[in-house]
Amino acid sequence: MEINNLFSKKNFILKEGVYIFDKSDNYTSNFGKQWKDFQNVQIDSLNKNNISFKFLNRILFNQMSILNDKTILEIGCGAGRFTEYLVKSSKLCVSVDLSSAIFYNVSKKNKNLILIKSDLMNLDFKTKFDIVICRGVIQHTPNPKETIKKIHSFVDPKGFVFFDVYKMPKLGYFHPKYLIWRPLFKFFFTYESVKKFLIKNISWLLKVKNFVRRLFLNSYFISDIFIPIWSYEGKLELSKKMHEKWSVLDTLDGLFAKYDKPISNKSIVKLLKNNKFKLINNDRKNNIFQTKI
Ligand SMILES: C[S@@+](CC[C@H](N)C(=O)[O-])C[C@H]1O[C@@H](n2cnc3c(N)ncnc32)[C@H](O)[C@@H]1O
Repeated sequence: MEINNLFSKKNFILKEGVYIFDKSDNYTSNFGKQWKDFQNVQIDSLNKNNISFKFLNRILFNQMSILNDKTILEIGCGAGRFTEYLVKSSKLCVSVDLSSAIFYNVSKKNKNLILIKSDLMNLDFKTKFDIVICRGVIQHTPNPKETIKKIHSFVDPKGFVFFDVYKMPKLGYFHPKYLIWRPLFKFFFTYESVKKFLIKNISWLLKVKNFVRRLFLNSYFISDIFIPIWSYEGKLELSKKMHEKWSVLDTLDGLFAKYDKPISNKSIVKLLKNNKFKLINNDRKNNIFQTKI
């Protein structure tokens, strides 16, 4: 697609193959650092696994072929764990991220990929997309409900939106992640100091975390309360070394994102109804949605 047919405004600069609308990372600077430091960790092709593929398939409600020959808008692409699959099947993939993560996107050199550094709330396209995908992003924006409305403005009436939002924990904001761990870490430590500490100590921290989990009848819920270290034991098939990398990455992601605003499944369904968006599929367990306008 001709670039001039994509954007309504031409207030961008082109740098390293990325169309830059927002020079500043703004509130996403932690993500810029995170995806620079751990750019390869979740990329299937570089790790010879299919973890991100399976995850994408789950986000698409097992309809991978829905991507074939479509125009796709991927919002909050990060280092590109999903982009590498989206570019393969689509006619055109436009991937957006506000942070400098966009410069590390693994599919950067792909011909049918357009990379845009912009706040999704500032995006203004001339065209509508067949598929809009926004995974792992909405809870990290200042006003998640406005974000949900905005992402629906990009989709063609015949197309679909696929998105997720972190689920509100049973304890709400009284969950220790929100009540204790995030405020404590953000007040006393920096991303850099915690990264250094985690890289050095992750091996025994994971052992303690998993021990606590087994002690409490395999409860992820209880072990998460006591130890704010992300563990994938029993969830993902990873070597010890890769498990440690995933843990460091997601611990930093969980603790240092500026915004972390989960929403209950019920509230999202209500929001969709109030805005007359059609709900096609609802994965209540994982808070993933397929919708239409
Ligand atoms: C947790 S990461 C998820 C990356 C990838 N989608 C995944 O699922 O692994 C969230 C991404 O959303 C981006 N993001 C957050 N707010 C944004 C906004 N307003 N506009 C565009 N991107 C945003 C962040 O920079 C970050 O790369």
